[in-house]
Amino acid sequence: ADPEPVQDFCVAAAHKTGAADDQPTFPGFPCKPSSTVVSDDFFFGGLSAPAKPASDSPFGSAVTSGNVEAFPGLNTLGLSINRVDLAPGGVNPLHTHPRAAELVHVVSGEMLVGFVSTAGKFYSKVVGEGQSFVIPRGLTHFQYNVGATAARALTVFNSQLPGLVLAAPALFGADPEIPDAVLAKSFQVDGEIIKLLKSKFRK
Ligand code: GLV
Ligand code: MN
Repeated sequence: ADPEPVQDFCVAAAHKTGAADDQPTFPGFPCKPSSTVVSDDFFFGGLSAPAKPASDSPFGSAVTSGNVEAFPGLNTLGLSINRVDLAPGGVNPLHTHPRAAELVHVVSGEMLVGFVSTAGKFYSKVVGEGQSFVIPRGLTHFQYNVGATAARALTVFNSQLPGLVLAAPALFGADPEIPDAVLAKSFQVDGEIIKLLKSKFRK
């Protein structure tokens, strides 16, 4: 989904992540001078362990990112990779990636992987070790551990920076908040239910 590169590589120059002026510029970050590029720029060891234990999260999940922010060598190459760890019963909660399709490859354990199409159809499959499932770009999806043991997947994207919109925080944790009346009317529920959801997702 990313633009085609016009050179072999363009290792992202050092930049402050999360800074206000740190918008990824089209078609990626500025390149560091090629005379300073070394083999290590094309190496990433950040997925050898989860960033934090899946059991530490209320969802029982941990996603470790290998996008261009973590792995500057990916800049302009149009791909990236995450590691998803799920404790038994854990879920990587409903979310979308506005800029990429996602290939979910299960490395260990067993997870229900599913997405909803623009026609409102739910497609899902229990995916086991060595098996894969694909999530089309921009569609809401999840992974849910249905096995008795921990489960792990590698997720591969056709974007260096797929973007992440988590459904519940986007709606109930937005800052400043979306008015209760808008959410209550949109979901056709009582305002009390919206207040409860906001209490869980507003920081
Ligand atoms: C899984 O859905 C991921 O986005 O890594
Ligand atoms: Mn995803």
